[in-house]
Amino acid sequence: MAAFSIFFFCFTISSHSLYTFAMTSDTIFMNQTITDGQTIVSAQETFELGFFSPGNASENRYLGIWYKRLATGTVAWVANRENPIRNKSGELTLQTDGVLVLRDSATNSIIWSTNTKGKTRNPVARLLDDGNLMVIDDEKDNGPENYIWQSFDHPGETKLPGMKLGWNFESGIVTNFTSWKSDDDPSQGPFMVYMNFNGLPQIYQNNGDVIQYRLGSWNGQAFTARPAARPNSIYRLEYVSNEREIYTKFDSINDSILSRLTVTPSGITGRYTWVNRTQGWFLFSAFNTDTCERYALCGVYGACDSTQSTSCGCLEGFTPKSQAQWDISDWTSGCQREVALDCGVREGFRKYRFMKLPDTRQSWYDTNMTLEQCNAKCRNECNCTAYATLNIKYGSGCLLWYEELIDMRVIPRDGQEIYIRMAASELGKVFCF
Ligand SMILES: *[C@@H]1O[C@H](CO)[C@@H](O)[C@H](O)[C@H]1NC(C)=O
Ligand SMILES: *[C@@H]1O[C@H](CO)[C@@H](O)[C@H](O)[C@H]1NC(C)=O
Ligand SMILES: *[C@@H]1O[C@H](CO)[C@@H](O)[C@H](O)[C@H]1NC(C)=O
Ligand SMILES: *[C@@H]1O[C@H](CO)[C@@H](O)[C@H](O)[C@H]1NC(C)=O
Ligand SMILES: *[C@@H]1O[C@H](CO)[C@@H](O)[C@H](O)[C@H]1NC(C)=O
Ligand SMILES: *[C@@H]1O[C@H](CO)[C@@H](O)[C@H](O)[C@H]1NC(C)=O
Ligand SMILES: *[C@@H]1O[C@H](CO)[C@@H](O)[C@H](O)[C@H]1NC(C)=O
Ligand SMILES: *[C@@H]1O[C@H](CO)[C@@H](O)[C@H](O)[C@H]1NC(C)=O
Repeated sequence: MAAFSIFFFCFTISSHSLYTFAMTSDTIFMNQTITDGQTIVSAQETFELGFFSPGNASENRYLGIWYKRLATGTVAWVANRENPIRNKSGELTLQTDGVLVLRDSATNSIIWSTNTKGKTRNPVARLLDDGNLMVIDDEKDNGPENYIWQSFDHPGETKLPGMKLGWNFESGIVTNFTSWKSDDDPSQGPFMVYMNFNGLPQIYQNNGDVIQYRLGSWNGQAFTARPAARPNSIYRLEYVSNEREIYTKFDSINDSILSRLTVTPSGITGRYTWVNRTQGWFLFSAFNTDTCERYALCGVYGACDSTQSTSCGCLEGFTPKSQAQWDISDWTSGCQREVALDCGVREGFRKYRFMKLPDTRQSWYDTNMTLEQCNAKCRNECNCTAYATLNIKYGSGCLLWYEELIDMRVIPRDGQEIYIRMAASELGKVFCF
């Protein structure tokens, strides 16, 4: 009898703790509803999901994910960015079909939903310690890609470690990052960091339709605006390009160091790390470090050099298209050749070193060709204006440009090499490849 009652006692306790675990757990179960004031917390208590009001001045309620342990309440993701709830009547429910639905119970209107389709047996929504909210089917074998929906596929202004920026050809999902309108308003602002897939894929930042900055293309170890792979203790960059997807992401080297990339409402894209000592975010690095980052500042065949007193110069063998404009620091009209090309057989290439490679939207590339094969291909096509090594880490592959070359800058020490097509008479002067 005694043994039985102990067993019974234990059973009651564990059943009770299971119940409370469910209420403060990392998981929303089928048919479960989270109301304003309730939250779920990831297993290691890194992130929390619930309702919040942004900034100081807003009463609007949003469903979001924030860092659980940071007093600053930094928000990492917002579900209903464009569609706030006016009062504390929000309700998040996981339906039996695996769709997460956010309702305003005051009006019984649907504010936001995950819009997924398909049959599910036992869907659950789980907040992971990397900040990803995933809807999975608990009764299926869940490989890492075998999810129904995840917030990482629908980022806002913050890129967390593990989040992809790119294009998944199978799901059709394109991910990019857009600023909030203001600290009080998470709806989409004008600034966007995205990947363009024309030619060799590149990362840009836009303000509306205008390109502001170009981080550029991947060179095997980094992006060409920051071409060196500088070892650091915070994060590791990765770029993947295969038949299923193209993306870049960064991973934390040490999970106890929090790191995020954020596009602020004023258009500053920065990598921030959390500093325990100051209890604040530290701007570790930013896209726009100097004047030379401004897209196409020096026009075609111009190169920006922040070590010079005037930012813009023409590449050797080129002169300003409009000297008058250059004289007043209006460089955008760029440079023209001193000797025009005529597609003659003796045309060749001049090597320029320490460069941020030009815009690759009008480019072609091959991962296997050698630099010699690259030279031959470019030489044989009159409209090919330049070539370079695709992967400088392994010294392999071929990158070819067509059209005029734009948005170059001089990067002392770390810049890349590019071979630019020149008339025969230009080549004798300095260097003949
Ligand atoms: C969930 O709700 C639906 C509709 O109300 C109901 O048919 C179903 O039995 C519920 N499932 C569970 C596991 O509670
Ligand atoms: C909130 O208000 C304080 C004090 O006025 C200000 O310092 C802080 O920047 C504000 N924060 C936001 C997010 O607006
Ligand atoms: C919530 O807001 C709606 C309008 O947005 C209003 O009709 C309703 O009365 C409000 N409910 C409460 C409890 O304040
Ligand atoms: C940004 O992402 C959205 C959502 O996936 C997509 O519709 C849009 O085309 C993307 N824009 C760019 C410029 O990549
Ligand atoms: C991670 O960083 C913490 C704090 O700086 C440090 O104590 C720990 O040793 C680091 N872990 C690793 C694996 O480097
Ligand atoms: C910062 O503090 C948190 C909480 O005390 C701790 O878990 C983390 O390891 C610390 N990080 C570093 C880099 O010291
Ligand atoms: C490039 O080379 C790799 C290994 O040598 C090979 O597997 C791959 O099929 C080649 N790709 C192309 C496009 O030729
Ligand atoms: C360049 O010229 C070749 C023929 O020489 C042509 O096949 C190709 O389409 C042209 N490429 C561009 C981008 O104009």
